[in-house]
Amino acid sequence: MADPLSEVIERIEQALDTPDPQAGVAAIMLEAVKDPAITDAISQRKKFANLQDLAIHRTDRLTLLAGSMPPGFRAAPHNHNLWSVVGVCAGQEDNQYFERDGDGLRPIGEASVVAPGVLPNPADVIHAICNPLDAPLVVLHAYAGDLFATPRSNWDPDTHEEIPFDWSKVRSSE
Ligand SMILES: [Fe+2]
Repeated sequence: MADPLSEVIERIEQALDTPDPQAGVAAIMLEAVKDPAITDAISQRKKFANLQDLAIHRTDRLTLLAGSMPPGFRAAPHNHNLWSVVGVCAGQEDNQYFERDGDGLRPIGEASVVAPGVLPNPADVIHAICNPLDAPLVVLHAYAGDLFATPRSNWDPDTHEEIPFDWSKVRSSE
């Protein structure tokens, strides 16, 4: 059987060529997160020492991250500098949004993405995420560019000091 992720990767790439690429990507991803074969495939992706290990696709115009985040998983405030679409295959992803405030950040809102669901984010979003449930959070995230070649930032979760993006300082577990 073909890798269930291969077809969706190709369809998301094709959606980038449509008139509203973010809406097109979100529509394909909503189908994908409802597909049990895709959820099963991503659920196996539990071990990741760094963010690159989550990448199932990486080109100049598209990065796809897919993996299973354990209960208690948290990512401290960070930006992407690329528009994105969050997809949740299983579980729930809680997003907290921020905006710059002087040298730091101030919270401006929250949104939960419950499986099966998707949430588009603009290129200038600053967010923190967590898995609030006592169950795995299985995600497929799309970014409109090469996420690993795009300069971006994260912010200390306590002091909100901005630093060049460092996944080891972003990721935490309870
Ligand atoms: Fe993010």
